[in-house]
Amino acid sequence: MRIGTTLTSYILRKQRDIEGASGTFTGLLNDIAVACKKIADLVNKGDLVNVLGSVDATNVQGEQQKKLDVISNQLMIEALEGNGHIAALASEEMEDLHHVPDGARRGRYLLLCDPLDGSSNVDVNVSVGTIFSILRAPEGVEAPQIADFLKPGVEQIAAGYCLYGPSTMLVLTTGDGVSAFTLDRDFGEFLLTKENITIPADTAEFAINASNQRFWEPPVARYIEECLQGADGPRGKNFNMRWVASMVAEVHRILTRGGIFMYPGDKRLKAVGKAGKLRLMYEANPMAFIVEQAGGTAVCDGQRIMEIQPDELHQRIPVMLGSRNEVERLASYFQT
Ligand code: AHG
Ligand code: MN
Ligand code: MN
Repeated sequence: MRIGTTLTSYILRKQRDIEGASGTFTGLLNDIAVACKKIADLVNKGDLVNVLGSVDATNVQGEQQKKLDVISNQLMIEALEGNGHIAALASEEMEDLHHVPDGARRGRYLLLCDPLDGSSNVDVNVSVGTIFSILRAPEGVEAPQIADFLKPGVEQIAAGYCLYGPSTMLVLTTGDGVSAFTLDRDFGEFLLTKENITIPADTAEFAINASNQRFWEPPVARYIEECLQGADGPRGKNFNMRWVASMVAEVHRILTRGGIFMYPGDKRLKAVGKAGKLRLMYEANPMAFIVEQAGGTAVCDGQRIMEIQPDELHQRIPVMLGSRNEVERLASYFQT
């Protein structure tokens, strides 16, 4: 019998390319994995441990918080704040940054996360996930400020997500391809189960929340209309549609068998001053990094997501990502 490649041994190997021989990066990924294992355990136990349902509060986004949104955020903080790997943490569930406590060692990384993505699905026992993005902390800065986090996605050191589905899977890029690890619950380790994941360039599967159709901008309306015409229309082939309402699950499907995922800006969002629904720093950027590393494309209308200079920590943007040829086609419709 063999142990296989654990997440830790994999990261130890990768770390050499990232920052010499220091163990900080490995430690940081371990902290994240520990939080994800605990969240996986709670998601799995659900009603048995009274973690389903909502709390009587909204977050900085003005969205109703689920109990597990709050708990997952606390678990990320607990796993990360005291180990000397991060300098500060930003999360969907916190308006401001979380700094390491007084007396704790300050690390060399900044972490951004969506502690529980797709949380509207948690009460109905459908897949949810955790998304994370890692940036380098500025040199010599004692307490990083929000401005230190506002870096374009191309500056990410690593990004990943943990999918709490029928199996719990951690998918990771350090800028050298995409690898997937599956949690062995009995053994308590994430074990490498896929390497060099690639997204097929072509697809006949799209994902969009079609209930927003009447608010779409013309390029999105045109793209979807052409897909819906199938073999009888200009595309000359039939399309299939999926919508899980957990971006983590949609991206995982696209990494597995291709596809295009869209959460475009629309007139309904613009009417309330929002450019899009999804958040640039801890949803769009990490997913764009993963998708690009798997050979796919990720754009905001016609622009590469990872080149956007962020203005705000909780900035929202339109997101289109997945199989290269489909995403490029949609992006080209924004240019005509
Ligand atoms: P979160 O649960 O972190 O707020 O994110 C939910 C996001 C994303 O995962 C999903 O694709 C989308 O919101 C679903 O939006 P609709 O409810 O509009 O379909
Ligand atoms: Mn989310
Ligand atoms: Mn969330």
